[in-house]
Amino acid sequence: MGYARITAVGLVGVTGHLVTVEAHVDRGQARVVLSGLPDAVLGQARDRVRSALVNSGFHWPDQRIAINLLPASLPKHGSSFDLAIALVLLVASGQLPPPLIDGIVPIGELGLDGRLRPVPGVLPALMAARESRLRAAVVAPGNLREAALVSGLTVHGSPDLRRLTAGLAGQGEMLPVPELDAESEDHSPDLADVVGQDAAKRALEISAAGGHNLMLLGPPGVGKTMLAERLPPLLPRLDDASAMEVTAIHSIAGQFEKRAALLRRAPFQAPHHSASMPALVGGGSGVPRPGALSLAHCGVLFLDELPEFRRDVIDALRQPLESGIINIHRSAAVVRFPARVLLMLAANPCPCAAPKPADCECSAMARGRYRAKLKGPLMDRVDLHVRLQPVGRSALLGDEPAPEDSRAVAERVSRAREAAAARWESAGCGRIPNSQVAGARLRARPWRLPSTVLGVADWMLDSGRLSARGYDRVQRLAWSIADLAGRDRPDENDLGEAVELRLGHKV
Ligand SMILES: Nc1ncnc2c1ncn2[C@@H]1O[C@H](COP(=O)(O)OP(=O)(O)OP(=O)(O)O)[C@@H](O)[C@H]1O
Ligand SMILES: [Mg+2]
Ligand SMILES: [Zn+2]
Repeated sequence: MGYARITAVGLVGVTGHLVTVEAHVDRGQARVVLSGLPDAVLGQARDRVRSALVNSGFHWPDQRIAINLLPASLPKHGSSFDLAIALVLLVASGQLPPPLIDGIVPIGELGLDGRLRPVPGVLPALMAARESRLRAAVVAPGNLREAALVSGLTVHGSPDLRRLTAGLAGQGEMLPVPELDAESEDHSPDLADVVGQDAAKRALEISAAGGHNLMLLGPPGVGKTMLAERLPPLLPRLDDASAMEVTAIHSIAGQFEKRAALLRRAPFQAPHHSASMPALVGGGSGVPRPGALSLAHCGVLFLDELPEFRRDVIDALRQPLESGIINIHRSAAVVRFPARVLLMLAANPCPCAAPKPADCECSAMARGRYRAKLKGPLMDRVDLHVRLQPVGRSALLGDEPAPEDSRAVAERVSRAREAAAARWESAGCGRIPNSQVAGARLRARPWRLPSTVLGVADWMLDSGRLSARGYDRVQRLAWSIADLAGRDRPDENDLGEAVELRLGHKV
């Protein structure tokens, strides 16, 4: 007869929540009752833990066992509670003394042989433990690198349950967290590799400076994909809070192993158009996982060959593009993942993708259907539209001056971002980029631009060629153009360029 409890961590979205795991072993008919809103995986924990205990040389109490996870209202899923359940059972059944597990947060899945297996989401779980002033945790060896990112918490690893309990009792070695490697060298592609395409490069720079969504339209082989891959390195490096958040998202998606360090560079996600809805926006059966949309948080989501994407996928992007958050609805709860991305789109001008418009073989109907996919509510959220032309031979053969490299452009972007952040902070909006400033703020004093500057935009709004959303978005763009030029306010030329970029042609 006995009772024990231990603190574990459950994840909801990217946030860790403390969960108390308690066990009561009592005389009576041998059976196990697991309560506290467990999902199917958690139900299987019972069978895994039973085998793990027996195969580690412990015995399974043939008594009445009650295991409860608190708070009941918190949805719990996944196999990361295995270790907590095993330890709490060992104490409740008198096989381990209670002080051994005192103040320890166990995170890990158990194999049937008692081996400790890594689980996704260890970083946000440990962050939650640290915030609650818990001092020590144990994880699987495969999670130690990730655990090393959280300071202020003692973390140990152990390969299996037997050695873990020996280690806790001071009768064996535990594995320490490894030293963090220095950040790997930057091998991101450089803008200097792209010949010509000055208009597109200019748009890339403005996009990076203000966080404006961008669309490249052009025939095959002119450098659209090349340019897209060169956008993230123009964005500022992630600050501590963003780096933790972005890394936590990748951790929950089970993509930490590949990186094994805190992500400091703006992420880049280029999902294929055939990718499933959960792979793109998040969700899936079982534990909800972040999709490409959230993996690109604080970075770039690139949809190459946009018209090939399914309509429902495109529609699902609309709301998160405005709010920066994706809500995934589940029967038990709504799971939220951060999704503040810079959207970059690319497409050919028509389905046959002829190099020159004159060579196009598409029927008028096919062209019309294709064009229709390039319109609509998603496109209204794209501020920069660029049409690319094939690069001339003399440019490709290097007869023109060498293009600027990414470092030079990134420096201008960084100065522009700093100017914008300082301005909007002084206005009480926080350190946001221009793309995130509320329309009402732009239209009110002291930020409202005079009609001498707004002229073209006013005329286009009146004549219906700009939507109300477009009108605000053009102004945000003009602020970014002014920030890049080091002007403290946009002038009429900045606004003119903004309108041209918004409409994708000269006005
Ligand atoms: N402007 C350019 N400067 C240098 N190389 C280029 C340029 N445009 C294309 N290339 C070369 O052509 C290849 C294809 O370019 P990229 O994949 O970016 O074209 P794309 O516009 O995305 O074409 P598609 O519509 O077929 O996807 C590049 O890998 C590069 O070698
Ligand atoms: Mg391409
Ligand atoms: Zn065509």
